[in-house]
Amino acid sequence: MKINYFLGLMVPFLFSCSDSDDAYIDRPLDFKVPSNFPALVYNIGLNPPTEKGFELGKKLFYDGRLSSDGIISCGFCHIQEDAFTHHGHVFSHGIDNLVGTRNSPSIQNLAYQTAFMYDGATSHLDLQPVIPLTSPVEMNGDLNAIVSMMGKDPIYSKLFKQAFADKKINTENMLKALSQFMVMITSSDSKFDHYRRNEAGGSLNTDEAAGYALFNSKCASCHATDLMTDNSFRNNGLAINPALNDVGRFRVTQLVADYYKFKVPSLRNVDKTAPYMHDGRFGTLESVLDHYSSGVMDSPTLDPVLKQKGTVGIPLSEKEKTQLIAFLTTLTDNQYLTDKRFSEY
Ligand code: HEC
Ligand code: HEC
Repeated sequence: MKINYFLGLMVPFLFSCSDSDDAYIDRPLDFKVPSNFPALVYNIGLNPPTEKGFELGKKLFYDGRLSSDGIISCGFCHIQEDAFTHHGHVFSHGIDNLVGTRNSPSIQNLAYQTAFMYDGATSHLDLQPVIPLTSPVEMNGDLNAIVSMMGKDPIYSKLFKQAFADKKINTENMLKALSQFMVMITSSDSKFDHYRRNEAGGSLNTDEAAGYALFNSKCASCHATDLMTDNSFRNNGLAINPALNDVGRFRVTQLVADYYKFKVPSLRNVDKTAPYMHDGRFGTLESVLDHYSSGVMDSPTLDPVLKQKGTVGIPLSEKEKTQLIAFLTTLTDNQYLTDKRFSEY
């Protein structure tokens, strides 16, 4: 009896020792909501980021083998130093140099967003990667082939066992790991953040402060909260691009009222994310402000905020434009842009 009892205790212990590489050994990562941020949307309790889950998610994010040509990884179109956008590319090109129809958005603070993609094609971060993974012009991947590739790769096999209690190499765990990596990619250390939290290095100069006041009165009804988005879909008066005729939110809802509405993007690190708008039509922040002051097109779905007292657009003087741009550059967060935890190497 005594010996059996002893063995019963020892066997799992020996087993877990000899097999320690593959054991579920994960440790939670610290995820903090900065005091100037809005409430979390992502239910972090259902998929808490852990050391190994994050490591696995990062490996997936930078692995070209997830695409049909073995080259195009998520990181190919989402480059860290450009705030995880595809800098210099109006449209991102994926496998075989096929070109999509939208500009690649930044990856940052995704756990605070209620919808993803410019038209809100998905409202859950865990499902988002299925779109690029299987899109014929992006990665053109095959989920079964990816699972089988990972099953044959010793590093993936080990990481899945370490990161998930059920140790399974499957699509569900792969998507959870990608979310863990993306959820941890937060940007909350810009000059503006320090200013908002009364921290050292957080004083705005005269132009920046004037720009912030202008922003609050002219832009913040849509670019709301310290994330600079209210997560809504709006028509900000861009002229229709006939070659693409991207109908925006209508694509998802089929509601006439949603024609040409696009997700209000966060403006964090906006100085690094040119070109701008869903189709990358503007190369500079100056041209974005010229649009708001003199380029807004009236249409049945134009946002009422941009048509007040019969005037279309947001009147801005040259000085006000300079001040707004000075403010927008305080949203650049070098800590996030260079954080080694998020980089490929
Ligand atoms: C070929 C370039 C390309 C590749 C590869 C790519 N993306 Fe994207 N990504 C885009 C574009 C373009 C959009 C915007 C699409 C839209 O709005 O319809 C986008 C949107 C997103 C968004 C939504 C962001 C937001 O604020 O709405 C997330 C998250 C994202 N991608 C993550 C990923 C992940 C994870 C992968 C790899 C599995 C990936 N992307 C691969 C180009 C790419
Ligand atoms: C009526 C709501 C609304 C107002 C007001 C508004 N915006 Fe926007 N903004 C949007 C929407 C919607 C988009 C995305 C449109 C698209 O991609 O087609 C956008 C896009 C942008 C972009 C491009 C971001 C990127 O990453 O591509 C910038 C920069 C910008 N706005 C700055 C401003 C500034 C500065 C003001 C104030 C002068 C302002 N916006 C006022 C709704 C608004």
